[in-house]
Amino acid sequence: MKMVLSLERLLQFLLLMMHDDLLQSKLNGRVADLSLRKLQTSEGLIDFCSNDYLGFSKSQEILQQVLSMNIAASGRLIGSGGSRLICGNNELIETIEENVASFVNASSALLFNSGYSANIGFFSCVPQRGDVVFYDEFVHASIRDGIKLGLSKSYSFQHNNIADLIRRYELLACDQTVFVVVESIYSMDGDMPDLLEIAQFCKEKNIRLVVDEAHSFGWLGEGRGLVSKLGLEDITYARIITFGKALGCHGAVVVGDELLRSYLVNFARSFIYTTAPSIMDQKCVYVALEKLVSIDFKSLKINSLIDLFKSLIKESDLNVIPSRNLIQSVLIPTNRLALSTEQRLRKNGIWAKAILSPTVPIGKERIRICLHEFNTEDEVKKLIDCLSNV
Ligand SMILES: Cc1ncc(COP(=O)(O)O)c(C=O)c1O
Repeated sequence: MKMVLSLERLLQFLLLMMHDDLLQSKLNGRVADLSLRKLQTSEGLIDFCSNDYLGFSKSQEILQQVLSMNIAASGRLIGSGGSRLICGNNELIETIEENVASFVNASSALLFNSGYSANIGFFSCVPQRGDVVFYDEFVHASIRDGIKLGLSKSYSFQHNNIADLIRRYELLACDQTVFVVVESIYSMDGDMPDLLEIAQFCKEKNIRLVVDEAHSFGWLGEGRGLVSKLGLEDITYARIITFGKALGCHGAVVVGDELLRSYLVNFARSFIYTTAPSIMDQKCVYVALEKLVSIDFKSLKINSLIDLFKSLIKESDLNVIPSRNLIQSVLIPTNRLALSTEQRLRKNGIWAKAILSPTVPIGKERIRICLHEFNTEDEVKKLIDCLSNV
């Protein structure tokens, strides 16, 4: 009996060792093709990397208002105390939801812990078994992961290629509910879809259009995002708006009609089975939203920084993916070259991230640059200089 037991334990031990070996060999694979992900800090570097486009995450003004805020949050000061459906709900969250909904001209909004949770929650439960989701091949991982968790059929279409979307739609001759998912500004390329044309197609075919506004909220349409900028609120079924980017905070909402909100409260597992955002997060979002609403977008200097960046790029040999936005990607093919460029920038005090394959397709490796309201002209000039001097 003793012998049998120890053989069993030996086997279990060997299995664990084999499992560790498997993990290690996968990491070794990443080392071999220079795609190993590592955590880094960025103290003291010029920020061309964060999604904090308006500098809200560094705002003393927002911080002081948050600290002095006295608003009903069920008597709590730090944590939310539980999931929304158990004891984590409060007036502050509901006010945030009402404020965002009214700002972006939607009838309702539901707060999630992050854009990742919002997309997972939405796409895993709203499209039903047999429904069809068409998504741009460049949509964010959270949308793909959400779709994978759900029961719908899904098909990608070529990036920003409406003809391909229409061709795929017609091939399928769908008789189920169809969803089309796009982003208003693509996070890696900084480019945009022709949302007017896509919305027109969706309207004609009774397709449910879903737009992830992560990188446009706080920037396009006086901060309201692309859907509002183009007046497409009524045609769009749902929008995912995240607070971790231009708003400089954390969290996200799905905006749509009351039926959608109620359905998500009941079926979105990433909403139901998690602690509600902390009171501190809620206060930050509340104050940052007030600040966003009050911005005079015409007075921002960020547009002139984008113009400067683009004109300097034109004079250089650098190859940039066409973008009119805050995200600009300089193509530097191969992981090796992109990584060495990132390191050179770092040595020169500049923080901009190499985006490697497999995150982007082979040959499309790049330095992804985010321009911010707080960057200066001299910083932009230094960036282009450092990028050009290979
Ligand atoms: C387009 C898009 N959607 C969703 C997300 C996820 O948002 P969050 O960072 O709030 O989880 C991101 C973040 O990288 C994004 O770029």
